[in-house]
Amino acid sequence: MSVENALTSEEMAIGVAHSKLILIGEHAVVHGQPAISIPFPIVGVESIVCHKPGAIEFVSELYKGPADEAPHFLHGMVYCMDATLDYLNLPRRDLNIEVRSTIPPGKGLGSSASVAIALVRSLFAYAGKTYTKEELLMLANVSETFAHGAPSGIDALTIASDLPLWFEKGREIDYIKPKNDFHFVVADTGRVGDTKTAVESVTNLLKTAPKRIQRKLSRLGELTYQARNALEKASKQVLGQLLNEAQKELEALGVSDAGLNRLIAFAREEGALGAKLTGGGNGGCIIALAKNELHSRQLTEKLKNFGAAKVWPFVLQQQDHLEG
Ligand code: MEV
Repeated sequence: MSVENALTSEEMAIGVAHSKLILIGEHAVVHGQPAISIPFPIVGVESIVCHKPGAIEFVSELYKGPADEAPHFLHGMVYCMDATLDYLNLPRRDLNIEVRSTIPPGKGLGSSASVAIALVRSLFAYAGKTYTKEELLMLANVSETFAHGAPSGIDALTIASDLPLWFEKGREIDYIKPKNDFHFVVADTGRVGDTKTAVESVTNLLKTAPKRIQRKLSRLGELTYQARNALEKASKQVLGQLLNEAQKELEALGVSDAGLNRLIAFAREEGALGAKLTGGGNGGCIIALAKNELHSRQLTEKLKNFGAAKVWPFVLQQQDHLEG
């Protein structure tokens, strides 16, 4: 049970959620390979629920109005809200739900899953109830299924977690224990990607060229095993090479594009030990491994000057304990 990500008073309840990064294994994870993902606390979502008589109102930067008239891109949120209210035996009315987000949507940072997790947390807080991780994920995945079609579940799980994850569909979650601090830089191409379409395109490729594509997915799986080893042995150089190798496979799967490739090439020229896309791809963000903290600050400035829409330096910290 968890209450630490929610706050209630008589008038309102707040639920919060951070975002996520996929270090390695995106797309392959949908087809049974492992992936490593990292909570990304630099950006996040707040969902604020208040009593307001009448039909449920949404307030967000992208839409303000009745929930049942929300535009198509918010339908996942509406389904998630309905499912949660039903689960809590609360009526589907008399609420004002404000969502504030610093996560750019469509950038591979798990915006839809973060909104869902924050929303479910805020509704449970409003009802004065606690939830288990299973309940939280079950309800958040209502929205994820709408947003991503056939998601692996890794986004919601990482957003509900405070530690780096080793994820394989249908297997028990494992937590990763980095042996040292790893300094990353995340940079946004400025263009929105569509994870659902990217996931479908890989699934279609797998149908048309099963042997060739399965080899690529399995290779991504091997790289992910090696990346875990590199994280747990503090081998930065090795991890960087593995990220570069993974990017080659993702390019061959058709989920990288010119904007991502341009930022990745620049980050490598500027000394990144490795760089790849993160998340669904075809737009969205890259993740680059810097040599150290100073280099991560320099790389951040250089990527900004090079034209990245947003750049976030980020440290994956050494972990001494393993409770998620
Ligand atoms: C999206 O963050 C990661 C993908 O592997 C999709 C998924 O796992 O659901 C592209």
